[in-house]
Amino acid sequence: MSVAPASPYGTLPPAVEPAQRKPLSLPRLADMHARGEKITMLTAYDATFAAMADAAGVECILVGDSVGMVCQGLHSTVGVSLETMRYHTECVFRGLHRVQGTAWLIADLPFGSYQESREQALRSATVLMQAGAHMVKLEGGGWTTETVRFLVERGIPVCAHLGLTPQTVHALGGYRVQGRDDAAAQRLKQEAHALQEAGAAMLVLEMVPALLAAELSAALPRCATIGIGAGRGTAGQVLVLHDMLGMNLGKMPKFVRNFMADAPGIAQAMAAYVRAVKDGSFPDDRLHAW
Ligand code: KIV
Repeated sequence: MSVAPASPYGTLPPAVEPAQRKPLSLPRLADMHARGEKITMLTAYDATFAAMADAAGVECILVGDSVGMVCQGLHSTVGVSLETMRYHTECVFRGLHRVQGTAWLIADLPFGSYQESREQALRSATVLMQAGAHMVKLEGGGWTTETVRFLVERGIPVCAHLGLTPQTVHALGGYRVQGRDDAAAQRLKQEAHALQEAGAAMLVLEMVPALLAAELSAALPRCATIGIGAGRGTAGQVLVLHDMLGMNLGKMPKFVRNFMADAPGIAQAMAAYVRAVKDGSFPDDRLHAW
């Protein structure tokens, strides 16, 4: 009789039975999207949290440049370097590898590492892919479309990011809801369609009105939208790990739920997050003022 090795994280109540788990891939994510199964994403910056999120059944782990604010104490993500992203991507990759994790690993291209040219973006993306990422994420629409196409044509899966794009917080005038008026909503829709057409397989929608996010999500069959502060109509959800664990040095965003509030431990909080996204009980649109 084989005995399962003791988990270093205590008793894990996985939201998805380990035996049913297969490594996530672009076709599997596209299949989930097509079937309407909600996709779960959580940020992680180190080996242990990444392994725990994977064990809890989180499908996509994002090494977000939020690492700058969460781990480095920066005021915004603008100061995060490519070397920082490479280091944390490698840490997360090792953590997943150690537990034979199945999660899809996405890494943020930081500010200044892709704006100069498509070639610069390719060089930066290569660094993150070689550190273990399966996909890179970059912010913005319009000019980024050709960069996305360039990367995708060269075999690099891309997640786009529209709405509140934290790397351009100074240009946006703060951490505000985007796409509120008709003109801004139209622009966002055009940019999202162009990004899908360029080959972006995922699109993070941050702090946009729930109705707009739902409408956009229904209109993008080849690009799974992942919402954060964008209501429940997106193909999946993402949260910053520390926020959903109730740990935040600043002001907790209104759309965040503290999953630690009702959980005996971190593993259970992560599993509760996965369950809540899957069954549609998170996010709660009543928490949105927009
Ligand atoms: O860096 C990050 O954590 C992100 C999420 C907020 C989507 O981009």
